[in-house]
Amino acid sequence: MSSETLEFQAETRQLLQLMVHSIYSNKDIFLRELISNASDALDKLRLESLIDKDLEADTSDLHISLEVSAEDRTLTVRDNGIGMSRDDVVQLIGTIAKSGTAEMLRKMRESKDAAAKQELIGQFGVGFYSTFMVADKVTLVTRRAGETGGTRWESAGEGTYEIEAVDDAPQGTSVTLHLKPEDPDDQLHDYAADWKIREIVKRYSDFIAWPIRLGDSDTPLNSMKALWARPRSEVSDEEYHEFYKHVSHDWTDPLETIHMKAEGAFEYEALLFIPSRAPFDLFSRDGKRGVQLYVKRVFIMDDCEALTPQYLRFVKGVVDAHDLSLNISREILQQDRQIQVVRRRLVKKVLSTLSELRENAAEKYGTFWKEFGRALKEGLIDDADNRDALLDLLLLPSTAGSELTSLRDYVSRMKEDQKDIYYMTGESRAMVEHSPHMEAFLAKGYEVLILTDPVDEVWVERITEFDGKPLQSIAKGQVDLGATETPAEQQEEFAPLLKYLGEKLQEDVKDVRLSSRLTTSAACIVGDEHDITPTLEKMYRAMGQELPRTKRILELNPTHPLVTGLRSAFSAAPDDEGLVETAELLYGVALLAEGGELADPARFTRLVADRLARSL
Ligand SMILES: Nc1ncnc2c1ncn2[C@@H]1O[C@H](COP(=O)(O)OP(=O)(O)OP(=O)(O)O)[C@@H](O)[C@H]1O
Ligand SMILES: [Mg+2]
Repeated sequence: MSSETLEFQAETRQLLQLMVHSIYSNKDIFLRELISNASDALDKLRLESLIDKDLEADTSDLHISLEVSAEDRTLTVRDNGIGMSRDDVVQLIGTIAKSGTAEMLRKMRESKDAAAKQELIGQFGVGFYSTFMVADKVTLVTRRAGETGGTRWESAGEGTYEIEAVDDAPQGTSVTLHLKPEDPDDQLHDYAADWKIREIVKRYSDFIAWPIRLGDSDTPLNSMKALWARPRSEVSDEEYHEFYKHVSHDWTDPLETIHMKAEGAFEYEALLFIPSRAPFDLFSRDGKRGVQLYVKRVFIMDDCEALTPQYLRFVKGVVDAHDLSLNISREILQQDRQIQVVRRRLVKKVLSTLSELRENAAEKYGTFWKEFGRALKEGLIDDADNRDALLDLLLLPSTAGSELTSLRDYVSRMKEDQKDIYYMTGESRAMVEHSPHMEAFLAKGYEVLILTDPVDEVWVERITEFDGKPLQSIAKGQVDLGATETPAEQQEEFAPLLKYLGEKLQEDVKDVRLSSRLTTSAACIVGDEHDITPTLEKMYRAMGQELPRTKRILELNPTHPLVTGLRSAFSAAPDDEGLVETAELLYGVALLAEGGELADPARFTRLVADRLARSL
């Protein structure tokens, strides 16, 4: 039969380059990856044969076998699982379907330092390709269960691979590595040695549910115990961690392990993990979420969305439910009442674990927050049932210092006369801190939360209070800062000017009024309580949404010389054309001060230049 030479997809080629010139120091993990794929293949075959009674497949002795040849310097990992068709091989082994691959590779190219590269590749998970860290040629022979013909694939990990049909392939897949020479300095161990293979399997793959046999021996190397079914006291942290790496494809230890067992009407066990760092695609639209679902030790599906809400998409692990049907579909799961109960319990448990971390392991919680805080904030929008628990988990920047603060700590620092929890949203800390809206709050010593995550714009709209204290944006509504209220006679004095400005600026603002939030600036722009913020407006536009322009309110500082001067000029000569330009400048200055963008910067600069020229 004829063999064909095909090219790897460009991204795969780049990834292979990284593997061939390995950037990862722990090369032993290639075996974990191959065993993990073999185990998945056996899971899939068992499930398919349970559901499809007509599938012609041999499931009598499902297992993984390892064969080494010291003479040929080869290692073969064989499974008699589901196997692959020719198209599968081209699709699955020749291309990388993961979302965000290009992005990850770009970052990897940009980062000069080796440790950072290692981090990135670890987050991505390279699976099958990790074989090229230890092999200079890889041969894969596979036959899909139920089909007659097989496929042979071979590559040296450079630009191309060979593929051909074979007719004597056994059901399942075998992967043969033609090992690179041993090189202890480069962490390349002797992977053709029995003892080394035993050691790696014991360390990384002990919990695999299928027997892993070495050579002719029938005694498995692994204990095959489902970790979640064993009492917590009998499982070591190391075992939990390796299991985590198996289900998550992460290369680092998890931050926290959660083990749950429920007996009674609906029995299940759950083994969940909170990773110690965010995957590269945490915020990509098609990123996967959900834990693995098992039914009485039988693997049913990956990424079971029904079991965790979107905002907890970073939680990894396994749920083994005892009373579900094996061929339950994703759609049915979403509706299943008992699954919904399980989901509610999982959420509560994850949140209470986080709360314990926050109280007893601040540093760990800090790591968690840095990696996943932004995702957790989405819960404030989506999960009304757990709103209080989520609010307690927030860590936010504030004007009180460079450390993040919880809302509770903020409340404990509130001034005696302070009724509200103040915050301001914006694009960056500097922009918020220097915005004119801040002035009177800083002058009075009130702390203001600085919210610069895009998601902050959304959740602050939903959350009205914490601990009985209203949440109040300092850039919205009328701010009542007690003693600084504008006296009635001042209001009267300014009324004609405010009315005049309101008319002249009606294209840009819906009202002009005196401010009690300014101490040094002449003017600022504020929103009504329910107006959309400029940052949010920008975000919507960036996403391609059409929005009517939101007009806000111009507030003037009645003690600022520019404002008092304008009032005098107006009462002296209300028809002066120059006043219109001054009004325009005032509005432009207020807009710039909050980091906004002028509608017509050229006109603005011309007006400023004219004024400057006249003042010289
Ligand atoms: N032994 C095998 N039997 C059947 N299919 C396999 C086998 N090994 C790999 N595959 C197929 O090739 C795909 C790619 O494998 P690879 O290990 O690169 O990625 P993955 O397992 O999907 O994800 P990860 O990066 O987390 O390992 C698998 O998803 C699977 O469909
Ligand atoms: Mg894999």
